[in-house]
Amino acid sequence: MTMPSIYSVILWIVLNISCCRPQCVTETLNSATFSITVIDHTEMESIDCIRMPYEMTFPREKVLVPYKKILFEGDPSNIVSTKVFSEMESDTKDIFEIEEHPRGEFEFGFMLEWGCNQTYIFPQRVHISVTAPSLNPYLSVSTLVEGQAGRLRCSAPRSCSRREHILLKWTKSDGQSTEIYGDENGYDRQFNRSRHRHRQYIPIYPTADYHNTNITCVAKYKYDAVETTVTLNVKFLPKILNDSHCEVKGELLVCVCISWGNPLPPIIWPLKPLTDYSISSSSTNQTVISTITLSAVEHQNTTMKCISRNELGQTEADILIQNSTEETQLTYPSEEKKGIGRALPWITVVCFSLNLVLITVLIIGIYQRRKMKQKKLSEETNTYASLRKTEVEDEYSIIPSQPN
Ligand SMILES: *[C@@H]1O[C@H](CO)[C@@H](O)[C@H](O)[C@H]1NC(C)=O
Ligand SMILES: *[C@@H]1O[C@H](CO)[C@@H](O)[C@H](O)[C@H]1NC(C)=O
Ligand SMILES: *[C@@H]1O[C@H](CO)[C@@H](O)[C@H](O)[C@H]1NC(C)=O
Ligand SMILES: *[C@@H]1O[C@H](CO)[C@@H](O)[C@H](O)[C@H]1NC(C)=O
Ligand SMILES: *[C@@H]1O[C@H](CO)[C@@H](O)[C@H](O)[C@H]1NC(C)=O
Repeated sequence: MTMPSIYSVILWIVLNISCCRPQCVTETLNSATFSITVIDHTEMESIDCIRMPYEMTFPREKVLVPYKKILFEGDPSNIVSTKVFSEMESDTKDIFEIEEHPRGEFEFGFMLEWGCNQTYIFPQRVHISVTAPSLNPYLSVSTLVEGQAGRLRCSAPRSCSRREHILLKWTKSDGQSTEIYGDENGYDRQFNRSRHRHRQYIPIYPTADYHNTNITCVAKYKYDAVETTVTLNVKFLPKILNDSHCEVKGELLVCVCISWGNPLPPIIWPLKPLTDYSISSSSTNQTVISTITLSAVEHQNTTMKCISRNELGQTEADILIQNSTEETQLTYPSEEKKGIGRALPWITVVCFSLNLVLITVLIIGIYQRRKMKQKKLSEETNTYASLRKTEVEDEYSIIPSQPN
């Protein structure tokens, strides 16, 4: 290296230091020349954008372009938003807008930065209370009729970040839930640009089993979820249930017809002019139960017709007439009587024979006692006694043979 080149390098360094150093000197600032007007405290919901309008003034001869307006949360090191100005603004009013925050209390502050990392932190703070969303989704259901397509609509407020997820849940009567619609993208294309509510139209093909079940529209946001439940009312034709039955009970025919429908379907018994009958009916949970009682003689048929009607139409059923089990039980005692009647002659014979046996045993007993007495009385009468014995024995041998 030559001497001139060494000098030129030294000169360059000296010049550099002398020209730039003054710019980076941290000046003592007069805080009275800086001011900011903000709203001290605001409340918002966890789906809202946090908007903080402010009016800022600063010494324009000191804060030169480019400068930055910085929003920090809690500590100045925790910067949440920065705006860079390469030209001096004409308006002192501006607004900071940041994405939704979870429920809780938050504190924000403002800072100016210019030159060689020269900063001014405004002493004022903005306090934000974030609450749960106040609006639930709006869920509407068209009139539902079994076999006809219906439509569900679910609308939910959009969130600041627009990353909500809308889904529909179907809860059956057993309490089990299934997701019937989920919007995976978080928002639907049609309403992508809308600042308004988020809408979903979903076709539904209801059956009678959907009646009284619940549909829930759930809007899941970044920090919260809201939902609305609607209990479905599905209109359906009457269905005559197979618990319906007819029975002959002695002189009477009793028929029960059970029909399930929405609206509630009254039951009619189409009878030819009958003189004597009575009908009683009751209803619960879209089910009508009608009981008719009439003379079994008047209705000589194997079936009984039952008709059930509502505004959607009518359904009829021919209920088979069954012989009641009670009646078969009633026939049992008469059969037993018949049995006894048939057995009667035999019983008489057995009784008669038993009587005879008893009588003979008695006679033998008496005879043997006498014989003993006679033996003791005399030995001369022996021949006479033996004669008598044979006579008695003959009699005895004849008697049992009589019934045969
Ligand atoms: C300001 O400070 C940051 C670090 O805090 C540094 O990266 C940056 O270069 C500095 N800017 C200037 C102009 O000195
Ligand atoms: C349906 O919702 C209603 C009220 O919204 C509730 O009373 C009922 O228990 C729910 N039924 C089922 C099956 O979840
Ligand atoms: C009657 O109902 C029972 C139980 O619900 C079912 O198993 C049976 O098939 C039905 N009989 C009919 C419809 O005739
Ligand atoms: C018996 O039932 C048949 C068919 O269900 C019907 O046509 C007929 O009129 C009924 N007879 C009487 C006496 O009800
Ligand atoms: C019911 O009893 C009658 C006589 O009382 C008989 O004619 C009919 O066949 C019986 N029906 C059934 C299903 O047992």
